[in-house]
Amino acid sequence: MKVVPKFAVRWSFEHALPRNLVRVAAKRGDLQARLFFAAERHETAALADIFAEVQASGPMVPTRLGYITADHAAVREVLSSNDVRTGFPLNTETRTGRLLDWAKIDFLHPLRPPSLLATEPPDHTRYRKLVTRVFTARAVEALRTQVQQIADDLLDDLEGRPEVDLAQDYCAKLPVIVISQILGVPAQDHDYVLKLGTGAAPSLDFGLSWRATQDVEAALQEFDAWLDQHIERLRSSPGSDLMSQLVAVRDEQGALNDIELKSTAGLVLAAGFETTVNLMGNAIALFEDNPDELRRLREEPQLWPNAVDEVLRIDPPVLLTGRSTLRDGEIAGARTRPNQLITAVLAGANRDPKVFVDPDTFDVARENARDHLSFSAGRHFCLGAALARMEAEVGLRSLYERYPGLRLLPGRERRTTRVLRGFEHLPAKIGAAQRSSNSLSPTPV
Ligand code: HEM
Repeated sequence: MKVVPKFAVRWSFEHALPRNLVRVAAKRGDLQARLFFAAERHETAALADIFAEVQASGPMVPTRLGYITADHAAVREVLSSNDVRTGFPLNTETRTGRLLDWAKIDFLHPLRPPSLLATEPPDHTRYRKLVTRVFTARAVEALRTQVQQIADDLLDDLEGRPEVDLAQDYCAKLPVIVISQILGVPAQDHDYVLKLGTGAAPSLDFGLSWRATQDVEAALQEFDAWLDQHIERLRSSPGSDLMSQLVAVRDEQGALNDIELKSTAGLVLAAGFETTVNLMGNAIALFEDNPDELRRLREEPQLWPNAVDEVLRIDPPVLLTGRSTLRDGEIAGARTRPNQLITAVLAGANRDPKVFVDPDTFDVARENARDHLSFSAGRHFCLGAALARMEAEVGLRSLYERYPGLRLLPGRERRTTRVLRGFEHLPAKIGAAQRSSNSLSPTPV
């Protein structure tokens, strides 16, 4: 096979070398490195143990790869701090920096500028302002009926099938249809966009194999090309959707250049389904393993919004996020120098016993479930939090109301991604459909 030099450089520095470093560090018991492998192998119990170990070692724990924190207050402080940035800028004064700059990709990547996830003020403020109003709690509530209709249609499609894969046939489909409608993606493109988004999902992970890196880059490149033609299509025949509005803003005021427009719209689209699919899948697995909690929701359906937050707390779709320090200073009690990495373990902060009583227990009535950090904090707080909560509430409640006899079959399988945690397959027998919209409510006597 022909080796592409730029690709080889990228893969070596972004995947092969860090992976080797992590492997050596794990052998020496480094907490960050152990977390890496436990996440890669989807060892849920080991992950919980590592969170507790990180917490017991202090709010900010030094490791061979920088600091790691699983302390709720420290994670919040890191994410809200003006002394950190997302990403890790290249120092082009060094030979390695110049080499990596030469080898950098020329297509969109969620962790490279001008992605919202990789920019800071003033650019970040400018991009974010353009998309915020579409995702306010009020704007999202106005979409509830539309989301209900999409869920109902998908549930109709499942009816009568002896066996379904809830991850593929329901959890993956609902969010992609919802966000596509918001962004004006035509129905015939939904499956294609879903395929590309799923292919690009490991782009948040480092330490990938050569083959996996090739696949991810191919998906990102294809997504970039699809966005070009989608934007062109909206430019010639605009609709009332968010993406058409963004295109118009770009054209009228020059607020965004073409790359910024593509990056902002592309991130909203991909983030809009690649995470919510995990929330719904993780929820279904948790309900299967904790049938008493589902029973409680049958008796007290008003607990559904809280149950969604409890799922987000105990099995968050985004395991962790990273920051790097800007200057000398102190963050969460730790002395920091410029350009140190900090890994904020969102899933760990969600199990901080100082904040959550009995943190490893799944309790749909937990009073402070909403205090989780699964949507991050500070200026990068998830733009789609209200939408994700509403979609999951409508999607899950409708599923269990329509199919009250639903049971998972053996063979559930986690997605291979490390930062994004969810299920690739959830085989299930759904049983007979129940038409009443109140099937989960107590039967009146
Ligand atoms: C359960 C579902 C979701 C989870 C768990 C989730 C989680 C997150 C997290 C953790 C971040 C911040 C990462 C960081 O601080 O480094 C984030 C940012 C973001 N999310 Fe979500 N997300 C979800 C759903 C959505 C949806 C439905 C949308 C669609 C509108 C969306 C759009 C975004 C965008 C655009 C950002 C970047 C915000 C910024 O950097 O300013 N997310 N999300």
